[in-house]
Order: sequence, then structure tokens, then C-alpha cells
Amino acid sequence: MQVQRFSDLEAVSRAGAEELVRLARASNGPFHVALSGGSTPKRMHEILASMGREALPWERVVLWWGDERTVPPDHPDSNFGMAKRTLIDPLKLTRFFRMEGEKDPPVAADDYQKLLLREAGTPPVLDLVFLGVGPDGHTASLFPGTPAVAEQARWVVANPVDSPVAKGKTVRITVTLPLLAAAKHVRFLVAGPDKTHMLPHALGAPTPEYPSSLVRGPDVAWFVDEVAAEELPT
Ligand code: 6PG
Repeated sequence: MQVQRFSDLEAVSRAGAEELVRLARASNGPFHVALSGGSTPKRMHEILASMGREALPWERVVLWWGDERTVPPDHPDSNFGMAKRTLIDPLKLTRFFRMEGEKDPPVAADDYQKLLLREAGTPPVLDLVFLGVGPDGHTASLFPGTPAVAEQARWVVANPVDSPVAKGKTVRITVTLPLLAAAKHVRFLVAGPDKTHMLPHALGAPTPEYPSSLVRGPDVAWFVDEVAAEELPT
């Protein structure tokens, strides 16, 4: 696992965008990318949009999501809705499969798993997964103390969450650790002071207390800004 430090969110975002360009250009056939939600990825999406469609072979890119809130796509909390505003609409992208947050969560999770198995194989192998990490060390919607963290049989589940970080009691649709472990490349984008205390744990010994610490795979890298990295050993 590698950690790359950048000056600020802008530099982290640019590095994430350039990583997508690099890996997509080096690929052949469909390039499956999972986007993360929350606020960190917004700037990376905007940078990708500003690069234009010629920056990478978007016609071969298939967009997925690592998790979704149980809300309709036009809800302000929708991860798909954020990507639609910042990336899909500006670049007029058409190849995407959103998690249907408006559906009954177990049904939406099962439907998404079926799509992944149909499009990305068994196990579903995504070429690139972008992840964020919460101040509690969650990633995707694998929150500490929730059943999805221990899930080893399914690739996508509906996960009951009760956390102040998730705005209280809710259900999230999320990919599981086996899905993340099967991905060819995983890139965490982390920035800001609310991640400083958590980051040493996320990068430390694997523990369910910090689910992001459990993410393993052939190529996992963390792009972090200086503020978030303040408590890491130099
Ligand atoms: C979500 C995300 C989640 C996010 C972290 C970090 O649905 O909220 O997928 O895992 O990546 O909570 O969020 P910020 O980027 O807003 O700090």
C-alpha cells in the first residue's frame, strides 16, 4: 500500500484525475470505474470535465458507484446525483450503472450485484475504484460496527447504519470488501482536517474499527493532502 502526499485538495483531485486518464488510456476494452460519494471527489470530477472528452477514451469507460444513499437520484444527498451534475452531464456520458437508492434497499443491492456480475464477471473485477474515507474510518458505506464490514459472500449489500457521520439511522447500499479486494486498482482520495486523527488508524493494522484499514488488493494507493497527513510518521 502506498501513500502519496499532496499539498492540498486541488492537488489530490488533479492526481486522481490524472490516474484515471493514465489507467484508462493504458487499458483495452471496457474500463470499469467505481466513483465514491461525499464531497471530496467533486473537484476531481470538475477537473475531469474541464479536460474534455478527448482526455481519455470515455466511450470505453463504464461508471459504477461504491455506495449510495437510500434516496432518489435527484435528492441532494445522492452520490449519483453529485456525479451527474459534476461529471456525467458536463461530458455527456452515457455508460453508467447507478445504485437505485429509491428502491427497497435489499432489492437495489441484489439488482446491482447482478449487474456487476453480468458486466464485470465473477468475481466482478473493476479496473479502478475511487474511495473516500470518513472521519470514523468508514469507506464506501462500510461503517464501523455495521454488518457489511464482515460480509464475505456478497459483492453488494444493503447496510443498516446508525452513525452521526451518516446523519443518523439509515440504510446504505454498498460494495463489500471482497469486491474492493478484486479491483485492479484502488485509489483513496483524502483531504482536510477532519481526516487527520483517523488517517494513522486507516493506514495502520487492519481492524474493523476502521473499515478503510481492511481494504486490500493488488494496487491500493492513498492520495492524501498535507493537512490530513499531519499525524502520519514523516
Ligand atoms: C458517501 C461516501 C463515503 C465518503 C466518505 C468521505 O456515500 O458518503 O461514499 O464513503 O467517501 O464519507 O466523505 P467526504 O469526501 O465528504 O469527506
